[in-house]
Amino acid sequence: MKTSSLLSSLVFATAVSAAVTPVMVPPVTPRSIEALKRSTVSEIWDAIESAASCAACEAVLTLLQVVAHLGNDDFVDVITEICILAGIEDTDVCEGSIALEGPIIAHDLRSMSIGSHTSEVFCAYVFGLCSLPAVRSYSVPFPSAKPATSRPASSGKTPIQVVHFSDIHVDRFYETGASYNCTKNICCRPYTTADAPGNNDYPAGAYGNHACDSPVTLEESLYSAAKTIAPDAAFTIFTGDVVEGAIWLVNETEVTTDLQDAYAMMASYGLPTVYGVVGNHDTAPVNSWPPADIDTTISSQWAYDTLSSAWAQWIGSSDAATADTNPGAYSAVTGNLRIISINTNMYYEENFWLYAATMETDPSGQLAWLVDELQAAETAGQRVWLLGHMPMGSSNTLYDGSNYFQQIVDRYEATIAALFFGHTHKDEFEVAYSDYTARSAANAIAMSYIAPALTPTSGMPAFRVYSVDPFTYGVLDVVTYAADMSSPTYDTNGPVWTKYYSAKEAYGPLVGVDPSDTAAELTPAFWHNLTEVLLTNQTAFDEYYARKSRGYDVSSCTGDCVTSEVCLLQSAEAQYNCWTPSVGIHFSKRDEGSDGHKHDECEPSLTKRLFHHIRASAEKK
Ligand SMILES: *[C@@H]1O[C@H](CO)[C@@H](O)[C@H](O)[C@H]1NC(C)=O
Ligand SMILES: *[C@@H]1O[C@H](CO)[C@@H](O)[C@H](O)[C@H]1NC(C)=O
Ligand SMILES: *[C@@H]1O[C@H](CO)[C@@H](O)[C@H](O)[C@H]1NC(C)=O
Ligand SMILES: *[C@@H]1O[C@H](CO)[C@@H](O)[C@H](O)[C@H]1NC(C)=O
Repeated sequence: MKTSSLLSSLVFATAVSAAVTPVMVPPVTPRSIEALKRSTVSEIWDAIESAASCAACEAVLTLLQVVAHLGNDDFVDVITEICILAGIEDTDVCEGSIALEGPIIAHDLRSMSIGSHTSEVFCAYVFGLCSLPAVRSYSVPFPSAKPATSRPASSGKTPIQVVHFSDIHVDRFYETGASYNCTKNICCRPYTTADAPGNNDYPAGAYGNHACDSPVTLEESLYSAAKTIAPDAAFTIFTGDVVEGAIWLVNETEVTTDLQDAYAMMASYGLPTVYGVVGNHDTAPVNSWPPADIDTTISSQWAYDTLSSAWAQWIGSSDAATADTNPGAYSAVTGNLRIISINTNMYYEENFWLYAATMETDPSGQLAWLVDELQAAETAGQRVWLLGHMPMGSSNTLYDGSNYFQQIVDRYEATIAALFFGHTHKDEFEVAYSDYTARSAANAIAMSYIAPALTPTSGMPAFRVYSVDPFTYGVLDVVTYAADMSSPTYDTNGPVWTKYYSAKEAYGPLVGVDPSDTAAELTPAFWHNLTEVLLTNQTAFDEYYARKSRGYDVSSCTGDCVTSEVCLLQSAEAQYNCWTPSVGIHFSKRDEGSDGHKHDECEPSLTKRLFHHIRASAEKK
């Protein structure tokens, strides 16, 4: 790190003035700010490059904090310039994304105490430096003690069907014939004249491309297929992310229209009652979900307003009103089932509003509200389905929120029939345990179903139909339908949705459950037993692994890769998922690198990717 710049003097002066007061800081003039910004870019770059430890990361934060104190505009200018220099995205992407995200990160930095729990968590996620600090111990208060009851046995009554789809990411600006080989993370748009239909050698088809988010034609095809394949479905669950991934362009006007259009279209196709969820993409700036206690003018209230209006047709105006203030969370009763939809952005590491000086235990009071809803269900003898966007055991979930959430799941395990999520775009699941030091069938207490995405960016478009016990609401089977985009007739005739696999048929025989026993529930123990088989039967594991992306671009996974994958499946609580922060492999622009890898679609923060990229490039030198 250079020591002679104006920035260093300012950092020094700030540090000294914090320690011993008073101290004379040189007056800051517009001229000196420009000089400061110029030297700052290279100084921050050098500091990030040489940061190889948690302490060094905190030194970088000290530099960034000084820039944040200059104001949002200066902070955005500096980070944008670093982004452009790094060449990780086109200039317009750097400018657009950092302008949206920068003010939120600057807000964090201004209140952050370096060396605190908050700065460690921030360094762990945003730089891949610092280990994640241990969970700050907190016992969620419960109105009553855990009862001795356990999950009810299957009723054997004729199952009902429920449709589940997720992450539709509809791009209303998709153009047939626009290039699918562009320099952005999402293509099939005429970003430049050369990308426009007729001017390129890579014309996108009418029904989607793996380099692009979903065209409206694909969205329509999904709703139509769901209606045809499950005509008598009792209801529909949609676990969030309506909006497309060109995040540097996405604004409030677009998100509002996207949300209204998508839910109106679900209704116009006659899908039975749709229970929606707030996704991280369903606002602008992306991931910006300030909890109620944060004082900011950057609000997402308009997104809650839009969602609750769209949902009111299915959940009624009173439950929709809850969603409007709650934030985006509601509970709705159908038959003897209480559906509770929560906003998982309150625990999402890329929701930068969460990095308050002292990170909140219960942002927006959502956990306390959830306890009340579960208690009401338990008291009324109802069963519960818990819906959210981000799976609560994922590497995107903050440890604290994940732990507090699991305390709640553990307390109400006899009432919660299952949990349903999306976000990862992969066909996955997570088993929750009462004791993570002894994961076993006997300790498995809850099951999180994670639905594959409609958007083709990481696999074939897919959706699911659950077979469900009408009395216990236990899941009896999961049948996944997919449209094979590699079919030679896909571009001409459109998606053909076929049964991809049934979980009971594929996995039942591996764990001693007869697939013809339609009344047998896929219990947490069933899925735990499957994870044990996946550890020892490589053929079964390979089949599972290919299903994650519905057969698209399947890589090989053996040895340690199998162990970590199974660890993820055996973790509904983030601190046990075997993921540790490290400098991620984040390629510049799209598909750089011959193996066609690109950055993780569930982590849209460009600032985070930028910092990881600079660190990763330094490590390669
Ligand atoms: C994209 O275009 C470049 C040349 O401009 C070419 O080398 C590359 O193979 C193309 N990628 C795909 C996926 O077709
Ligand atoms: C919002 O985005 C849309 C679509 O990109 C664009 O047409 C519109 O001008 C933008 N509105 C504002 C206020 O920036
Ligand atoms: C899971 O495995 C255990 C131990 O092998 C067995 O007792 C139990 O019946 C299995 N449960 C299911 C649902 O397959
Ligand atoms: C391993 O899995 C494969 C694929 O599901 C299955 O056909 C085979 O019977 C399994 N082997 C054993 C020993 O269970």
